[in-house]
Amino acid sequence: MANTTENPLTAYDLKVEYLENPSAIDVEHPRFSWKVRGEGRNRVQSAYQIVVATTREKLAAGDWDVWDTGKAVTNQTNQIEYNGALLESKAEYHWKVRVWDEGDIRSEWSVPAKWSMGVLHFSDWEGLFIGLDVGQFEGNKYDSLYLPPARYLRKSFSVDKKVKRATAYTTALGVYEFRLNGAKVGDYYLLPGWTDYNKRVYYQSFDVTDMITTGENVVGAVVADGWYSGYIGYALLVRLDKVRGFYGENPSFMGQIVIEYEDGSEEVIASNKSWKASQGGIREADILMGETYDATQQNEGWDAPGFEDSLWMSPKVYTYPNGRLQAYPGELIEERERLTPLSVKEPKPGTYVFDLGKNIAGIAELKVRGQKGTKVKIKYGEILNSDGTVLTENLRMARATDTYILSGQGEELWQPKFTYHGFQYVQVTGYPGEPDADAITGIALSSIATDASTFKSSNGMNNQLYSNILTTQSANFFEVPTDCPQRDERLGWTGDAQTYCRSASYNADVSAFFTKFLVDLDDAQRWYGAYPNFAPFPYSRPDQYAPAWMDAGVIIPWNMYKVYGDTRIVERMYPGMKKFMDFQADASTDYLRPGGGNNWGDWLAVDEQTSHDFIGSSYYGYDAKLMAEMAEAIGENEDAVSYMNLFNNIKKAFAKKYILENGYTTEDTQTSYALALYFGLYPHDLAQKGADRLAEKVINNGNKFSTGFLGTKHVMLALAQYGYADLCFKLFQQTEYPSWGYSVVNGSTSIWERWNSYTKNPDENSSLNAAMNSFSHYAFGSVAEWMFIHGLGIDTNDEGFRNIIIKPAISKEMGSMVGSYESINGLIESGWEMKGNRLTLNVTVPANTRAEVYIPTSKIASIKEGKTKLNKHEGLKILEVIEDEAVVEIGSGKYSFSCTWKQ
Ligand code: BGC
Repeated sequence: MANTTENPLTAYDLKVEYLENPSAIDVEHPRFSWKVRGEGRNRVQSAYQIVVATTREKLAAGDWDVWDTGKAVTNQTNQIEYNGALLESKAEYHWKVRVWDEGDIRSEWSVPAKWSMGVLHFSDWEGLFIGLDVGQFEGNKYDSLYLPPARYLRKSFSVDKKVKRATAYTTALGVYEFRLNGAKVGDYYLLPGWTDYNKRVYYQSFDVTDMITTGENVVGAVVADGWYSGYIGYALLVRLDKVRGFYGENPSFMGQIVIEYEDGSEEVIASNKSWKASQGGIREADILMGETYDATQQNEGWDAPGFEDSLWMSPKVYTYPNGRLQAYPGELIEERERLTPLSVKEPKPGTYVFDLGKNIAGIAELKVRGQKGTKVKIKYGEILNSDGTVLTENLRMARATDTYILSGQGEELWQPKFTYHGFQYVQVTGYPGEPDADAITGIALSSIATDASTFKSSNGMNNQLYSNILTTQSANFFEVPTDCPQRDERLGWTGDAQTYCRSASYNADVSAFFTKFLVDLDDAQRWYGAYPNFAPFPYSRPDQYAPAWMDAGVIIPWNMYKVYGDTRIVERMYPGMKKFMDFQADASTDYLRPGGGNNWGDWLAVDEQTSHDFIGSSYYGYDAKLMAEMAEAIGENEDAVSYMNLFNNIKKAFAKKYILENGYTTEDTQTSYALALYFGLYPHDLAQKGADRLAEKVINNGNKFSTGFLGTKHVMLALAQYGYADLCFKLFQQTEYPSWGYSVVNGSTSIWERWNSYTKNPDENSSLNAAMNSFSHYAFGSVAEWMFIHGLGIDTNDEGFRNIIIKPAISKEMGSMVGSYESINGLIESGWEMKGNRLTLNVTVPANTRAEVYIPTSKIASIKEGKTKLNKHEGLKILEVIEDEAVVEIGSGKYSFSCTWKQ
């Protein structure tokens, strides 16, 4: 037992609604979380106290005028609902927490944190949606693009009293950048994000107190089409009736700055008719097509005091959207990494190609000096043609081209604001003179920081694979989980998202990101109950849903519950999920759900096809099981029972139709075994036979897959459960097509859409399908789930990583693996190494959690922890021995186990 007097616990990483010091929360009972750490072993939080005050000073002085929980006796550290006085619109709150440990010793107060409430009442909004009429398109929508200029809006106002607090609340129908006195407000891109704007429009809030000066101030906004009125997805490619402007034709901005003065008075500077509007440097701005900036047309100083705006017009006022105004619940797009080119080549005279070394989503920053009017064109691509120029065929209708026209005034530094691209290579033409390597900087943008995991194994190829997974997750967790960031698609494809969501949760804290996306998914649910192919859902082709895509509506919430212990999201989604289950029941005959809808099946599978009906029914069974668990978690006990009954009925019907007496499936494909086993649809006595057949099929296939988006992740998850750890490692380390290693040996820096998107062999490459070949598609990255759950063996026993499982699938096929996962309760580490027959397993478990560690040996007496034999160990004991595995229960701390490995 740790010496608690000397080592009290520390509470850290305080968050509200999964966010650090969020600036606009509009849920009535926000949820608090923190982590605890403390030296030594078996550290536990036995109680906490949260206090909330209206000012930082009051918080420090012990004047907790908003909420004081007193000493709450529980080990809970997250999902704790605020339950104090009614929280007020726009108000700022300060909070801190202290905790008691296992010996009832109290910690210091945590570092104080804060949050602000958003605009809670519609009557608090004073702004109008304003823009500028720039004419309209009158051509053939399929023959030419319509890319109108951005709209610039400004308002000069004066301040002559002392400002106490100034807060901006801003949004747009379109995408906007908000500016104050010549500077951008906030570090975010493509605000206010993408929603079904007919249902909700998110706003942002910024503390601008320090940006306001005495005398003249100028507030400015630039607004462009974005998802609201620009081109989205493949609409142009497939010649939909509408190709752009899915939510509206004209972008507009709405916002207000609320200035609270020291003297207690308040002033609101709101967007309205008194603002001025004009065009400026941005001549074209579209997410898919790119941006054109003419620096000769920029209005120098337009967003700062002293600018002459008499030539500017009065803005056009647009109608308020139908969607409700809400605070953004997710994580905004930010710069995550800056990349300097590894090389610059000139494949053709005057055509320069910059290699950024990795395939990102984002923009390029251009540095240039030259004559006024010089036009520099920037194209983006993921791979090169054989002549060294950038390949753009796979971008399909996404023009993905930016243009910069020089002002001619010294060194010019430019980056686009309202577009993004998926690329590793940047091709520049029209550059005055020969560019240095620093003429281009790659800026990786993403909604998330991929910093929750580490992974290293004794196989370098697998380490590159891990890095590729992170890169591709970062590139596609972009406002919504997109399928890919480069071509005319970039949609929140639900099949991809459901298959990858658990993997995603290991690599990044995706709690807020998925909280936001699940609202999109809920909003996009079809009136008849199906969740659609992608969300948001601006348009569709005739079929709107598909098996394994629509199931995202159940699978993602369940994963949020499992990983973060989040029952609120389950409650939020529950009515929709029930409706979806009813829809499936309705579509089923005798508990079997047919394929139906759009049938992609096991998308991009190689050689083997699994029937859509099989896939439909197996996912239906899985949904029923997850629904039973979620219903129980939120106290819907009757539903829990009926969903469990439903699962059992589906299981019976499924086995009768699809599983033969010898344990084979009627389909006999890798995917069919993987799904049926992993979803628990095999009759108990046949499951091992099914797993044996799956293993046999993989082996007969040369330790390679024949699977697509759906089967791939489940093959190894299923094999791992039935004693085929070694085979999993063979698949994991495979380098022949189809495998992950194949892409790595062919030079990938990202996860590809196809197992063979590219090969170094030019003859083979000529047959590649450029029309659908993305080099940044996270779906096959779903192996991360196996890498963490089985490779490193880090999993949660119940929900939310309070009771952890450490169960690495150690295999002679691999020398070592070491890695970590920053869970909602803190850092979990697992690392194992084999030397001869000696196995070491190092484990770290965070304070206030427990773990069951599985030590794979039949020689129980050989197990040591540190230098001490386990059977002589104080405080550590073997819980049980299962075949050739010992299960040891540990509390928090660092442990080093060693043993003679089982043979
Ligand atoms: C997307 C996918 C998606 C699929 C549906 C593709 O075009 O890129 O990732 O899931 O369509 O089959």
